[in-house]
Amino acid sequence: MNNTAKLNINGQIHELPIVEGSEHEKAIDISSLRNKTGYITLDDGYGNTGSCRSEITFIDGEKGILRYRGIPIEELAEKSTFVEVAHLLIMGKLPNQEELKRFSDLLTKNETIHEDMKFHFEGFPSHAHPMAILSSMINATSCFYPEILSSERQEDFVVQAARLLSQVRTIAAFAYRKSRGLPAIYPKPSYKYTANFLHMMFSNPYQEFDAEPEVIKALDLIFLLHADHEQNCSTATVRMVASSKANLFASAAAGVCALWGPLHGGANQAVLEMLADIHRSGDDGSKFIAAAKDKKSGKRLMGFGHRVYKNYDPRAKIIKKRCDQLLAKLKRVDPLLDIAKKLEEAAINDPYFVERKLYPNVDFYSGIIMRAIGIPIEMFTVIFAIGRMPGWIANYREVHENLETRIYRPRQIYTGLTQRPYVSVKERV
Ligand code: SDX
Repeated sequence: MNNTAKLNINGQIHELPIVEGSEHEKAIDISSLRNKTGYITLDDGYGNTGSCRSEITFIDGEKGILRYRGIPIEELAEKSTFVEVAHLLIMGKLPNQEELKRFSDLLTKNETIHEDMKFHFEGFPSHAHPMAILSSMINATSCFYPEILSSERQEDFVVQAARLLSQVRTIAAFAYRKSRGLPAIYPKPSYKYTANFLHMMFSNPYQEFDAEPEVIKALDLIFLLHADHEQNCSTATVRMVASSKANLFASAAAGVCALWGPLHGGANQAVLEMLADIHRSGDDGSKFIAAAKDKKSGKRLMGFGHRVYKNYDPRAKIIKKRCDQLLAKLKRVDPLLDIAKKLEEAAINDPYFVERKLYPNVDFYSGIIMRAIGIPIEMFTVIFAIGRMPGWIANYREVHENLETRIYRPRQIYTGLTQRPYVSVKERV
């Protein structure tokens, strides 16, 4: 195979190196393009552009493959836990027993937020969206731990990472309690990560929430499946902010903001709203699918389609199966799950979706599980953010520890007005 690509510009041939990844993905390295040719590339939405080399997560969109540090998502979903996977992503390896205990103890030690942060919660209106609270409070956390701002001290990185991973859960639960006018419930050191989150969400001063093991495992699986996903919009945002040497909490807060959009992490909330609208209208889904195919309607089949997966999202398969199991275990029937299955059946046989390779993604079924657990719809994207935190932390670390990292600063093609004179206000029309 040639290890260079030849580019012919006005008859002049320019050679650019070809880079090949460990899974044999190939790229043309254009880092010398502008110096050699004066040209830049243009790629709206970065669909054809690699922003970095990374060792964290591998996706093959055509084959529907997802691996965290080389381990297939199907094996991790069946055999691992969210905290183990967080260690795998952040530290680069599955922890042995001693490492797992140390990491788990660090999460426990850092699970409460600084007591003065509670005053910030009082400032939010009760209808504030929890994603707004989450991004604000993650950023605010750095004010209470000044050592976070000295990002050069890498030796305490793991403490910062554990503090962020542990406290994102506490902040999320406090935001929910505040929105319902309920007293904040503090974490319990005897509870593990996901059980503690459910405790902080649903216990009351007069009664502990006794989560069923299946509910804890279902939510832990949701966190695990969302833990990383290579250079998605929010992770790319975290890397962008990290490249300026901003601290971990500022970078994660930016990731929360990017995740909030309905085309990204906000889709799980949008899917449930879509299913509920279809259910309310008495539509069997066919009217909605027709609208989703009609560009003029402005509607999309939320939870369907993906920039990278041109096959079934492997996470959607896993979640769909767990959905059936959990609802059966809880002896729950959810009409929205039936509608979701009907929509999927119709769409995967409809030429519009087949031609565009639009399949269910991770968001299509995740909301059904969260609804079965009793998590309110406005918290769905917050759950996604908690799950994605290890991936953001791992990508932040990869940027910070790569001494060759340059600040992310894309170019552009200017299409605005060419040079023209200033006109004084008296002469303006
Ligand atoms: C996540 O990147 C990641 O890894 C993200 C994520 C992660 O873990 O971080 O996997 C999580 O964000 C999953 C995606 C959640 N979003 C949704 O479910 C929202 C609905 N889906 C889309 O809006 C869309 O599919 C995207 C945003 C996911 C992907 O958008 P692209 O790659 O820019 O594709 P596109 O908008 O250019 O669509 C290509 C064609 C268009 O039609 P044509 O112009 O070719 O005629 O497909 C159509 C689109 O109109 N299309 C859809 C559709 N998604 C794409 N038509 C109807 N319904 C849809 N859902």
